[in-house]
Amino acid sequence: MSQEAIPSLGGYSEAALDQAFAALAHEVEASAQSLTSAEAVEAFRLHWLGRKQGRLKSISDAWLKSAPVEAKKLIGQRFNQLKAQIESRLESATGASSQNALDAEAIDITLPGTHRALGAEHPLIKTMHEMVAVFQRMGYSVGVGPEVETDFYNFESLNFPPGHPARDTQDTLVVANQERKPLRDRLLMRTHTSPVQIRTMEQQPPPVRIVIPGKVHRNDAADATHSPIFHQIEGLCVDIDVTFSDLKGTLDHAMKEFFGSSVKTRFFPSFFPFTEPSADVQISCPFCGGKGCRKCKHSGWIELLGCGMVDPAVFGFVQQKQPAYDPKKISGFAFGMGVDRIAMMKYGISDISLLYSGDARFLEQFA
Ligand code: DAH
Repeated sequence: MSQEAIPSLGGYSEAALDQAFAALAHEVEASAQSLTSAEAVEAFRLHWLGRKQGRLKSISDAWLKSAPVEAKKLIGQRFNQLKAQIESRLESATGASSQNALDAEAIDITLPGTHRALGAEHPLIKTMHEMVAVFQRMGYSVGVGPEVETDFYNFESLNFPPGHPARDTQDTLVVANQERKPLRDRLLMRTHTSPVQIRTMEQQPPPVRIVIPGKVHRNDAADATHSPIFHQIEGLCVDIDVTFSDLKGTLDHAMKEFFGSSVKTRFFPSFFPFTEPSADVQISCPFCGGKGCRKCKHSGWIELLGCGMVDPAVFGFVQQKQPAYDPKKISGFAFGMGVDRIAMMKYGISDISLLYSGDARFLEQFA
């Protein structure tokens, strides 16, 4: 749209004004013919309403300047009408041009949609949740504790005195530059979930029934069955008159719930510093029913967890903060199991590192 000349007024009578404005209205209509793109609409707007160079402004400046006072009002009214006409053209054209833009990027519903894979629980977490749920149904609560632990909670309070040989079985990863602290305050990566037993008892008087799932760390060389990071579920039950029969009944029930009601359990004497007596628990192989297969290495039995009656010395450490844990009045049992091995058995996973590789090709098998 080029800048046209300013039309001249044929007089100030209403008829003359009407004629002049009719010509302008016609000009607006003509220039509003092809407002199909956003650029054309903007050009139309600038041409007519531009604040400095706009045609409306130039014409009204010219016409009003020389008009006699009595005509100014009549001219002003007609300019307002003309402006309203321009604005209404702009409005409908703006709607139309954005509709055109929408049409241009219209969605082709015949194309395949964007495929977003469904997330799924990691087999390890799933196993952990299922096992924890078994104990929740028996009235156990669920707790957590820190992975960076002190020597006191990871060892001393669990009756591993400084220099005790049982510490050597734990292949501990220690945090560097802790030598200036007293031994009990030095930080390490927890080697088991058992320290949360102590933390729980320090926080609340008996009775306690709790399971603690979590990540643990050991300086193990990685191979098909070892990973420096793995997972355990700890259990603790403390009350008046808790006996070894309660421990056996609880674990037998839990294993039947988790692996199936035909599974049997058997207990062997063992040693842990924080339980006395201690036991290792085996279950009859849930895959072959005890006949012998690859999963149970043809023995019919699978070793699954450690357990025992809480050692009175452990209650002694807790009593520094919670005197109610008096071993003359209360007793308890504890257990701990490795989750990774159970998950590997359950899902037929032969290499533990797959659980930590984050490889979607492996993980999506469980979706
Ligand atoms: N903390 C032991 C370990 O990692 C496992 C364990 C054994 C936990 C016996 C217990 C228990 O609570 O009573 O080797």
